[in-house]
Amino acid sequence: MANNEDLFKQIISHAKEYGFIFPSSEIYDGLSAVYDYGQNGVELKNNIKQYWWKAMVQYHENIVGLDSAIFMHPTIWKASGHVDAFNDPLIDNKDSKKRYRADVLIEDHIQKIEDKIDKEIEKAKKRFNNFDEVLYRQTNTRVLQYQAQVDDIRTRFAELMNNNDLVGLKALIEELGIACPISGTRNWTDVRQFNLMFATKLGSVADGADTIYLRPETAQGIFVNFLNIYKTGRMKLPFGIAQIGKAFRNEIVARQFIFRMREFEQMEMQFFVKPGEELKWFDYWKQTRLQWHKDLGIPAENYRFHDHEKLAHYANAATDIEFKFPFGFKELEGIHSRTNFDLSQHEQYSGKKLRYFDPELNENYVPYVIETSIGVDRMFLAVFSHAYTEETLEDGSTRTVLRLPAKLAPYKVAVLPLVKKDGLPEIGQEVFDMLKKDFMVQYEDKDAIGRRYRRQDAIGTPFCVTIDNQTKEDQTVTVRERDTMEQYRLPIADLTVELLKKLR
Ligand code: GAP
Repeated sequence: MANNEDLFKQIISHAKEYGFIFPSSEIYDGLSAVYDYGQNGVELKNNIKQYWWKAMVQYHENIVGLDSAIFMHPTIWKASGHVDAFNDPLIDNKDSKKRYRADVLIEDHIQKIEDKIDKEIEKAKKRFNNFDEVLYRQTNTRVLQYQAQVDDIRTRFAELMNNNDLVGLKALIEELGIACPISGTRNWTDVRQFNLMFATKLGSVADGADTIYLRPETAQGIFVNFLNIYKTGRMKLPFGIAQIGKAFRNEIVARQFIFRMREFEQMEMQFFVKPGEELKWFDYWKQTRLQWHKDLGIPAENYRFHDHEKLAHYANAATDIEFKFPFGFKELEGIHSRTNFDLSQHEQYSGKKLRYFDPELNENYVPYVIETSIGVDRMFLAVFSHAYTEETLEDGSTRTVLRLPAKLAPYKVAVLPLVKKDGLPEIGQEVFDMLKKDFMVQYEDKDAIGRRYRRQDAIGTPFCVTIDNQTKEDQTVTVRERDTMEQYRLPIADLTVELLKKLR
């Protein structure tokens, strides 16, 4: 059994070997924290986006879509606070010359102590029958000591972050004895703030070019279009605006594959509500978004909420949905109650009124906002890493299978004539032409059937349809299911309906 680090490496190499994800500019030795999606990756990514868009826009009569430009007026980022405060605290190790995020060093340290707690619990589970985890956590001395350490560090850490106390952050790193993973030394520089936005120039420099930014989030495009959509869509509160698009951040430490990238994609929705009703809607979106994840069939124990201790000054509630990645529980999606901060800021900076007229109260006000925000790439990593499975079969052979939720799989069906003769490829081509109207289908007639099944397992195709000699006699085919490897025959005429039923 591979440990988590090995498993993660296998997942990354599988993603490359099977055409899901390639390092960007690979023939030029790559570009740090930028990736390209290959032939299978782009299908999986599109399916994730479609699954989100349907759940948010198609299934809610009061949510509409938007596709705003990446380039926006530079004052937008002043109003949103990104120019002054979209910073990460960075620290360098003087010996290795490696750069780190000070907050991530402390979080990783906390994670290590939490891992020790998990190990104690695992050991105890094996030792005792009728093991009561809650009671054990409350009574075991070692677990209690570890937990007290975690609580103490978390409290102090939250306070330092809240106060932007860079000197205090460095002192905490030193006190905890955190060493650089490369040099192993504790020879740290001071902590400094680093702005994450990429700046570029609009127009030629000779023309007096303006500095503009590649958007670090899609959300601001929604806020600055609030009035356009409210008026032209004749929207009534509560209503939402959803957007999928690229975002760019000059991350100090971009690592863990597509978990933290410099160019990535977000799926964001801003839900505008009447002031005072925001916490009710915050709870609604918390539960609705968690359910969206669970509906994919990934077991619930892989998700947890992490309510924020450090609330941004404009937020009155915030939580993350964390997912159990191969490297531990980490943020997958953020849900924030942003009050009326963004719209009020844009009112102030643009001089335009961004208000809703409430016909019941007969008054104008700036709506409050609940935001749901998830990275497409991070969602990709969540489903991909969870789906990646290595199995030993009854006959002792092994197979690698991507147990992707069927609705997200790049291809739904593979059509495989058993042999490349006796008229079977011609029938296969007809079946392919019939199925392609409803599904993404692959046609393959090279290699032994067993190898073709393995290739389809490796890219997560839920159904293989095999054409054999019996097909010529009774127009039936063999359907083989990816997860169970169960096989059964179906008439060609029933294939579309039966597969559609199974996929739904
Ligand atoms: N508009 C709010 C916002 O952008 P965020 O927590 O900074 O909030 C939201 O980002 C989501 O975007 C995260 O939960 C994560 O899924 C994704 N995300 C953020 N930074 C990312 C990065 N560097 N690479 C990949 N995904 C990222």
